[in-house]
Parts: sequence; structure tokens; C-alpha cells
Amino acid sequence: MNIILLGPPGAGKGTQAQRLQTDVGMVQLSTGDMLRAAVKSGSALGQKAKDIMDAGKLVPDELMVGLIEDRIAQPDCAKGFILDGFPRTEAQAEALDEMLARTGKKLDRVIEMEVDEQALTERVVGRFTCARCGTGYHDKFKRPRVEGVCDVCGSKEFSRRKDDNAETMKTRMAAYRAQTEPLLPYYRAKGVLKTVDGMAAMDEVYRQIRAVLAGA
Ligand code: AP5
Repeated sequence: MNIILLGPPGAGKGTQAQRLQTDVGMVQLSTGDMLRAAVKSGSALGQKAKDIMDAGKLVPDELMVGLIEDRIAQPDCAKGFILDGFPRTEAQAEALDEMLARTGKKLDRVIEMEVDEQALTERVVGRFTCARCGTGYHDKFKRPRVEGVCDVCGSKEFSRRKDDNAETMKTRMAAYRAQTEPLLPYYRAKGVLKTVDGMAAMDEVYRQIRAVLAGA
């Protein structure tokens, strides 16, 4: 099964995609994670993306489409993938339709994570991840079981994203409203859109997503 998790910054896309990947074996394709890896490696893509990401704006479509097209073609994606952070513009959505049609794949569901905008800044400002394995945590909503130690790999090193601050969130939200929100009617018209309550507790959001997938 191939799905998209769609929602604003901090809606919980990465949290839920990680859990689905662990439980169901679908592959999480987070364009944000891919770009951050490119920035860290100093590749040509990373050099182009760094300042744009730090400012909270969107990286150009042609770079993103090439990135996801290469990734979807990898053999592990044959068992199903979760797009987390892509598409983010109508041009990306159209390019995705075209690449799926060309490779004989199909999009089974687009899951909108509906959230209250006011809660999102608190979510992203409190977020941190394990610097070794990438597991996500939150100062208030999801602390490690043992303080200062990653639940999954035992690392004691954590990192915070440079764009996770209240000021940059304003630009990220504006980009979401102007460029990504129009994808909701786009996918509704195709009959694949379902909505879950992204304001519920993490386990309940996950239960709702699994229910949507069970009915797909
Ligand atoms: P990206 O990394 O995709 O960031 P984003 O869309 O802003 O999404 P986030 O990762 O911030 O949020 P999330 O929904 O995954 O939330 P999470 O699960 O972590 O993109 C970063 C940048 O890269 C973009 O700004 C852009 O520059 C560029 N980019 C990426 N893709 C692009 C594309 N396709 N085109 C162009 N540019 C692109 O949750 C957040 C926090 O809340 C966590 O701490 C979590 O523990 C907590 N939380 C989650 N769920 C709940 C809950 N139910 N209750 C309480 N807390 C919760």
C-alpha cells in the first residue's frame, strides 16, 4: 500500500510514519529527513537546500521531484511507502501522479492530519531527536523513558532542528497554507482523501490511521 501523510509542520506526520514503518514494514519517505541528510553530507543538493530550509521556505519543485523519483524506484519501496512531507505543491502532486502511472504504482490513500494551528508551535519548539538513530521525542509530550537516554538505541546525544523556532514557524505555516493546503481538494476530488484527528493523543491518532488503512 502507498500512502501520503498530509498536514502542516508539527502535525505528527513523522511520528506516525515512524510507527507505521516499524509495525507494518512500509517504508517512510521523509523528504525533510532526506534534505537534512544532504545538508549534513555537504552534497550539491544540501548546499542548495540549506538556507531555504533554515528560512522555512520550500525547496524548488524540480529538486524535490528528482529526489523522490529516485527513492521510489529503490527495491525496498515495492513493499509500500509512506510519503511524509511530499508532495507539498500542486506541481509536486502532478509529478507524483505521473511517476506512479509510469511505474505501474498506485496511491491508495492520502491521510489528512487535521490539527489546531495554535498547538503546532508548542509541538515543534519542544521537539528533539536522537542524534544516532533519529527517534523523535518532545519535551512535554514524549520524553525518553530514562531521562537523557534514547529508548531505542541507548544514545545520550540528541539534536534540535534549526528551523524549529517560533519565528521560522510563521514562514513554514504560511508556505503550508499557500502551497500545500490546496492539495486537500486536489486529492478529495480523486476520492483518496481521509481525515484523522491529529489533535488526539499519539496512540489514538495511530489507531485512526490504522482504521483508515484497514478500510482502503
Ligand atoms: P519537514 O522535515 O518535512 O518538516 P515539516 O513538514 O515542517 O514537518 P515536521 O517534521 O516539522 O512535522 P511532523 O508533522 O513530521 O511532526 P512530528 O511527527 O515531528 O521539512 C522541513 C523543510 O524541508 C521544509 O520547511 C522545506 O524547506 C523542506 N522540504 C521538505 N520537503 C519538501 C518538499 N516536498 N518540497 C519543498 N521543500 C521541502 O511531531 C512534532 C512534535 O510533536 C514531535 O516532538 C512529536 O513528539 C509531537 N507530537 C506528534 N504527534 C503528537 C500528538 N498527537 N500529541 C502531542 N504531541 C505530538
